[in-house]
Amino acid sequence: MTDTLADTAPGSAPSSASSSAPGGRPAAAELIRAAAGHLVPGITDLHRLLGAGGVEESADGAEVRLSNGRTLLDFGSYAVTLFGHRPRPVTDAVHRAIDTMPTSTRLVANPHTVRLAQRLTGLLDPDRLTRVWLGLTGSDAVEAVLKLAIAATGTSSVLAVAGAFHGKSMGALALTADPDRRAPFAGFLGDARHLPLEADAVRRAARERPFAALIVEPVQGEGGGRPLPPELLRQWAADARAAGAFLIADEIQCGLRRCGPVSVSQSLGLEPDAVLFGKPLGGGVLPLSAAVCTERLFAPLLADPFLHTSTFSGHPASCAAGLAALDLLDAYDEDFERVGRRLAGGIGQLAELHPAVIAAGRSTGLFGVLEFTDRARSSLALMEAGRRGLLLAPCLTAPTVLRVLPPVVATDDQLDRAFDILGTVLASVARRTAPR
Ligand SMILES: Cc1ncc(COP(=O)(O)O)c(C=O)c1O
Repeated sequence: MTDTLADTAPGSAPSSASSSAPGGRPAAAELIRAAAGHLVPGITDLHRLLGAGGVEESADGAEVRLSNGRTLLDFGSYAVTLFGHRPRPVTDAVHRAIDTMPTSTRLVANPHTVRLAQRLTGLLDPDRLTRVWLGLTGSDAVEAVLKLAIAATGTSSVLAVAGAFHGKSMGALALTADPDRRAPFAGFLGDARHLPLEADAVRRAARERPFAALIVEPVQGEGGGRPLPPELLRQWAADARAAGAFLIADEIQCGLRRCGPVSVSQSLGLEPDAVLFGKPLGGGVLPLSAAVCTERLFAPLLADPFLHTSTFSGHPASCAAGLAALDLLDAYDEDFERVGRRLAGGIGQLAELHPAVIAAGRSTGLFGVLEFTDRARSSLALMEAGRRGLLLAPCLTAPTVLRVLPPVVATDDQLDRAFDILGTVLASVARRTAPR
């Protein structure tokens, strides 16, 4: 693994980027300057630090190659590349769609869109979850079900959960429990209540005033890879149903086997009125999200088909990617087991060996979590892991947590390498932050 990084402190000129590139490609240094000038500076700083003067050039499976010759193991990617980078069946399907009819007239049915809807309903509960709304981002799917639930019940109050993350578009942000991100828009966010993890929380909320829906992430993703207690979820599901409200399972991050089953809510017997998928649904190749709904929740769209539309909803190339991605869920059956086992063992071992920096380690399927003793240590570990060739994912609403998200195609050798790096990183963080 290369470990020859130049000084990449924020604001300093990236010295490891080549000034010219073969084939007329723009040099990395110029791209990095342009990014700093035109994109979001705090994020381009992070890119510069983790890329160490390089920019992304190509990727394959669990590995990403940069323009400066470095190869990074990608166990991050915000949970999108569950099937690795560029899974061949998905890229083949996308190429075929692009070579025939990549975009839809939206006035005539497109086979990819229809087939995906059919496939998604078949995957879950075909007698109950019969209707599909397709979007591109996770927030798209959240917005859609939020509007449906409010329109169907005539009630604009909604319930979400403490620690939840459902996205940052306005409706989704109303459901997200992140005080800093919500504060500037507080007056615009409507009536969303965030429940404490208590058995009677839904009943108490129902007594205060009626609500349209309860939205839950069965495993909270950005909130720190935290599975919610199954008994609590079952109680809440029953209480929401008794109150005449909808139950929405946001599985944008935990679903599609990232955390074990295709649908965590279904495996827990929650019988939600909608299951939301996103992130890896487009095979890690194209953006795609879906809300798979009951007829009752979908009723407002049955009455008015234009109540909620979006230009690229059901985009054929994305749907072609989604169809190919869903095939991979079964194709990688043994690998989900293999990678999940190795991840659980590795995380457990790291937590045991490094108690000075790791407060807790856990994993659910292919979702590994390293919870640090404080925020400074988790940030240091993120950067140090990147420096040593391993990308992890920080958590948006749990800053002490780093997610370890291997793709299902990670080889044993790549998993060993990742855990070797993590062992070195945690030892280094412990040394550098030890009380004097
Ligand atoms: C559970 C969950 N829901 C919704 C979203 C929003 O998805 P997107 O960022 O694609 O809009 C995310 C994103 O992290 C998520 O983890």
